[in-house]
Amino acid sequence: MELKRLPVACGAEVTGVDGSAPIGLELGQQLRDWLVEHGLLIVRGQTLDKKAQVEFSKVFGELAIHPLAHQIDPEQPELLILDSHGRDGTMEPPEPEQVAASIDWHTDLAYVTTPNYAGLLHPVILPPEGGKTGFVDRQATYDALSPAMKARIEGLTVVQSWRHSMETISKNPAFRSDEGAKVMNLDLFPDLGYPLVFEHPFNGRKVLNVTAMWSSAIVELPGEEGEKLIAELVAHSLQPQFVYWHEYTPGDVVIWDNYRMMHAASGTKGKYRRRVYRTTIDGKVQLGGLPLDAAEVAAAQERIAALRKEKVGI
Ligand SMILES: [Fe+2]
Repeated sequence: MELKRLPVACGAEVTGVDGSAPIGLELGQQLRDWLVEHGLLIVRGQTLDKKAQVEFSKVFGELAIHPLAHQIDPEQPELLILDSHGRDGTMEPPEPEQVAASIDWHTDLAYVTTPNYAGLLHPVILPPEGGKTGFVDRQATYDALSPAMKARIEGLTVVQSWRHSMETISKNPAFRSDEGAKVMNLDLFPDLGYPLVFEHPFNGRKVLNVTAMWSSAIVELPGEEGEKLIAELVAHSLQPQFVYWHEYTPGDVVIWDNYRMMHAASGTKGKYRRRVYRTTIDGKVQLGGLPLDAAEVAAAQERIAALRKEKVGI
């Protein structure tokens, strides 16, 4: 097994491993160490069916079942299906040249108190163009801030807001979702307050915890001042030197550290189809995400559980 730094903003490529066979203790530890070191691993040349993807994913930790029940694979609930033509491929495609299924920069599960540590993507249907996943290393974006900005943002609390993201998504004509649209209207995830800068639990480096999708306000800077700071930090983070857009080749497995990296989807033209399976590696660490209203969170968790029971029976 070999690792090579990519000549891009972030990440490393891994070759010489077969994820469909059992991964021994030593190889497993090496892969976990590389993920902590590089934040993004592109493992090439894999042929993984659903079960094999689940097994390979477990090398990186215990798996979580995603709270968005409408996107879960009914046969293999550890898999989240990302398909530009809907979970079962029957959603009416958009106009042939219209880009669908693009998603703005975000981290996954920022709207729960313990977000997942990592995500793993494996494409099963690739479009001839588009369908890329973008990555930005939020440790690198923090490191590149001026000393004055680092001092200014230390100790601030950013509000990560599901409601804010759904309002933004609904304005994006390229975002389409079949049953998701119904789920989005539900008041499932109350706002959470997170440190704007936190220390990565595994490598101790500081992470600039701001994304275009979730970050709606700064608790200590109400109104416009907070919004302006968020916009400034987002613009800083999306400078070209930080951004890597991964163009998939068949057999790629892409694993990223969700505490550290933010990601985005470029989308796919309506005349093409893209289907990717994602597994979610659980997070046991509370990164400081505190409910702004604890009773609201408890009620929302009950609604999520009821929805999952209804959709996938677990
Ligand atoms: Fe995502």
